[in-house]
Amino acid sequence: MELSKKALGIKPSSTISITAKATQLKAEGKDVLSFSVGEPDFDTPEHIIAAGIEAMKNGETRYTASSGTPELRKAVCKKLLEDNGLVYEPSQIIISNGAKHSLANILLAIINDGDEVIIPAPYWLSYSAMVEIAGGKPVLIYTKKENNFMPTRDELESVYSPKTKAIILTSPSNPTGMIAEEKDLKTVADFAVEKDIFVISDEIYEKLIYNPNKKHISIASFGKDIYDRSIVVNGVSKSYAMTGWRVGYAACPQAVAKVIDSIQSHMTSNPNSIAQKATVAALLGSQDCVEQMRKEFALRCDYIFEREESIPYISALKPEGAFYLFIDVKETYGKKYNGEEIKSASDFARLLLDHKLVAIVPCEDFGMPDYIRLSYACSMEQIKKGMDRLEAFVNELQ
Ligand SMILES: Cc1ncc(COP(=O)(O)O)c(C=O)c1O
Repeated sequence: MELSKKALGIKPSSTISITAKATQLKAEGKDVLSFSVGEPDFDTPEHIIAAGIEAMKNGETRYTASSGTPELRKAVCKKLLEDNGLVYEPSQIIISNGAKHSLANILLAIINDGDEVIIPAPYWLSYSAMVEIAGGKPVLIYTKKENNFMPTRDELESVYSPKTKAIILTSPSNPTGMIAEEKDLKTVADFAVEKDIFVISDEIYEKLIYNPNKKHISIASFGKDIYDRSIVVNGVSKSYAMTGWRVGYAACPQAVAKVIDSIQSHMTSNPNSIAQKATVAALLGSQDCVEQMRKEFALRCDYIFEREESIPYISALKPEGAFYLFIDVKETYGKKYNGEEIKSASDFARLLLDHKLVAIVPCEDFGMPDYIRLSYACSMEQIKKGMDRLEAFVNELQ
């Protein structure tokens, strides 16, 4: 029987496949070090777990409003006001099963068949798949390292068409680790207002910033014109080590929130009631845990970057936030490991896994085929061992 052509056209996530391969090798008893997954290695902080347990004991185990509990939607409004200077009503907030689900809902809510969505590359690989699932067409801008991987006005103009519906931004960025500067965000905001398109602003790594000279700015905070066209996405997975709880949210113009609510009410209903209660504790409780984790990530960031800098043929920009090191491996092309030639970042990644048991992500699916991505959301001990192996691998290239 024929399956959906649209669905068959969607490739599975390469980060998830590499992680699965690494897990399988581990299960076979191999000493694999995985740098592929974007998941903090910390446990969810105690007070958040306690709130979840309390919720279960108190019988908060039933359906909630499909768009989330009033308590959590209010807590999100408080967070957006205090951290980002954004004024939202709870009716503009939709709580979903992770930021990924929020993004999928948003795209389903705004895209008509054939609408185009601008995605500055490199980008988080699920954006383009989600746009396609929603019936839209991803339109990539290949941004430049010297522009901090942000699109220029000329680049934006060059991909604009009357079908352009939205642009997706991520800062701090997965995979580059860069933080968008105010002037670059303003360029995008002016463009979006002039062309009357949506900006979907993925701010999931907001709290993980290591460059003391940079701060997170939400594009929606630049005034009413851009606020009215912005949809801010955030969640608790990365900042609070809550990846498994599956809570994310979107802050939207009223009309968009209403449509997302309708979609979600039919597709999944509410996100987990217990996780919602735990998220209230995360957002309203002490933020010391976030700072502790951020400090630890900052140490790892310094270490991994320093090690990378001392390895020949590969180069990276120092990450400013998130927990990824984005490495250009083009200079290794043409070299051989064990007689096998490296022709792409995928070859580099495969040989590194096969011969040194280090799993990393080649960034073809992130729109930058000459790069690899290493997640340093793992212990310092693992990072040290992994960088020793990466160094040995590169030094053994012929
Ligand atoms: C840029 C970006 N946005 C969203 C997500 C999804 O996060 P969540 O776990 O909340 O679905 C991720 C996860 O890797 C991400 O890297």
